[in-house]
Amino acid sequence: MRDDPLLSPYQLRHLTLRNRIMSTAHEPAYSEGGMPKDRYRLYHVEKAKGGIALTMTAGSAVVSPDSPQAFGNLHAYDDEIVGWLRRLADDCHEHGAAVMIQITHLGRRTGWNKGDWLPVLAPSPVREPAHRAFPKEAELWDIDRIVSDYADAAERMQAAGLDGIELEAYGHLMDGFWSPATNRREDEYGGTLDNRLRFTHRVLDAIRARVGPDFLVGVRMVADEDWDKGLTRAEGVEIARRIVASARVDFLNLIRGHIETDAALADVIPIQGMRSAPHLDFAGEVRAAVKFPVFHAARIPDVATARHAIAAGKLDMVGMTRAHLADPHIARKVAAGAEHRIRPCVGATYCLDRIYEGGEALCIHNAATGREAAMPHEIARAATPRRVVVVGAGPAGLEAARVAGERGHHVTLIEAAAQAGGQIRLAAMNPRRAELIGIVDWRMEELERLGVETRFNTFGEADEIMAENPDVVILATGGLPNTGCVESGEDLVTSSWDILSGEAKPGSDVLVYDDNGGHPGMSAAEMIARAGATVEVISPERFFAPEMGGLNHVPYARVFAEKGVRVTINTRIRGVAREGNKLRVTMGSDYAETTGTRLVDQVVVEHGTLPDPELYEALKPHSVNGGAVDYAALIAGRAQAVVTNPEGRFRLIRIGDAVASRNIHAAIYDGLRYVKDL
Ligand SMILES: Cc1cc2nc3c(=O)[nH]c(=O)nc-3n(C[C@H](O)[C@H](O)[C@H](O)COP(=O)(O)O)c2cc1C
Ligand code: SF4
Repeated sequence: MRDDPLLSPYQLRHLTLRNRIMSTAHEPAYSEGGMPKDRYRLYHVEKAKGGIALTMTAGSAVVSPDSPQAFGNLHAYDDEIVGWLRRLADDCHEHGAAVMIQITHLGRRTGWNKGDWLPVLAPSPVREPAHRAFPKEAELWDIDRIVSDYADAAERMQAAGLDGIELEAYGHLMDGFWSPATNRREDEYGGTLDNRLRFTHRVLDAIRARVGPDFLVGVRMVADEDWDKGLTRAEGVEIARRIVASARVDFLNLIRGHIETDAALADVIPIQGMRSAPHLDFAGEVRAAVKFPVFHAARIPDVATARHAIAAGKLDMVGMTRAHLADPHIARKVAAGAEHRIRPCVGATYCLDRIYEGGEALCIHNAATGREAAMPHEIARAATPRRVVVVGAGPAGLEAARVAGERGHHVTLIEAAAQAGGQIRLAAMNPRRAELIGIVDWRMEELERLGVETRFNTFGEADEIMAENPDVVILATGGLPNTGCVESGEDLVTSSWDILSGEAKPGSDVLVYDDNGGHPGMSAAEMIARAGATVEVISPERFFAPEMGGLNHVPYARVFAEKGVRVTINTRIRGVAREGNKLRVTMGSDYAETTGTRLVDQVVVEHGTLPDPELYEALKPHSVNGGAVDYAALIAGRAQAVVTNPEGRFRLIRIGDAVASRNIHAAIYDGLRYVKDL
């Protein structure tokens, strides 16, 4: 792999980057009080260990208190940050990675009711729908104040020993001045391009005056808003040229599109089922036009595309941001000729959706990411090999078998179906979500490498399991659709699984009752609508699909809009009864006993799953722990040691949906955390 363009070093002025792979700015919401403490540091250090050349820390670290956190952003305006960042930078440097940070003033892209409750501001008082704040128009004293806040923040980053900074200029205050969509000013900050760039030049001048010529400064900028009322490509490229001509910056990091709404954001940061690398050619064209170092990221999840981006001269540094959430050791694996062992980013965008919902970024199928202090990315071998039987090859069972295999145990994986995957295989039946199968395929390849014995088409019976003389039995048998939320007529309804699996043909006039709020109900509705049916989705919630984040919502909402799917909220299904060859659905709500009826030919219900307790109950009396779990030990990362039956022959552990209906991440986290200490 010596001639791999992706692994060739890159010289950015005085800084030698060891290869072309970087992680672009992204706030994982691991901050504590606006500070990048241990969790934050360990997350970045893992990527440094994994061979990354450059990690752009933070995402939108805020330079002023009137730019309050939108999703756990770091407080670049607070001197306390210097010590925390110095430690992070030192540790990453020790592992050979360069470290920079993205700083910004969020402008109108945040909430007004947060932090110090200062008024949110923007070049003009135009509301941003995604964050709902009504901004005030920035006054001249605001502009002076924020210019010096940028310079102060840059100085802090230099003091922390970082290799450089990047200014965020898409959807935030800086580019708010550039865009006709958000700048309606008639003073010296509005109108001509010179005026619209005045704030940017003032910030760059102030930063350079403070940090000197050698500290690396870049701009992550939109060079085409791809929006009828926004910045055109011609103007965007001209802005790039002028920023380069200012001789104040060292690199550009290019964005195409705008982020005013979730739908627009999904075009800038595409999710699964959407185009791969949609803006790569654009970035390459701008690079050719400005002849300047260019970075770029937008759904370049795999090494082949990243390599192409470098080899074809489209980029100088290629961003693989979500790819590193899925596997922080990409460069190391490429260098070791183990590209095929990279845990794939399947574009689920569970990571990003979580931060907009107030959570922290977690990868759908790497439960160690963001939990580096407690969860290993590399599993250590156990001192004593044991016999482990895992029942069920859905996400929980596959992960448990993988981790047990890495521990060096003798592992047997039993699965009733002909293929692995469980509910992932079902979810991947929606062609738009087919990439999810990567979660299964990657694990199956790892199991083969680890020598795990797999038995498909085998229903796990207690006798057969005990005949294996296991030390540990892990039950990962999942659940079955629970349609019991319908008070009467449950036997007349179809489950979302029947639709997803293709076992039930979509009707022509279908009511989908989603009393779960996540993917299964929405995906069933999508598939039915695509099959040409008239569909109404009914939810008892005050908004629909509340378990789903904003970016995952976009493709569903697009299909619903295109196919005319009707959505009704605040409504419960009370009962379903046969009426001729149709079904009469009686509806009510938490606010009124009855709210009407519908006459349809199919009722599809999604209400999560229920485990089948039979095997668990049969094994319990033979186990040492009767299925009991020591949660304190689990949380503290100690091995399970509960003994309720000293005569028992094995430890019995139940994981994933075999315990209760949850999601893929929960199943995989169970698989990792119960087994890593076995
Ligand atoms: C959790 C998360 C938070 C993000 N926050 C920011 C941010 O604050 N600033 C920014 O410029 N980009 C942010 N991004 C976008 C990424 O930098 C990157 O452009 C995007 O993920 C597309 O690249 P990828 O396909 O390699 O992941 C964020 C991405 C994720 C996943
Ligand atoms: S959650 Fe999905 S998109 Fe995000 S890193 Fe993991 S696999 Fe990639």
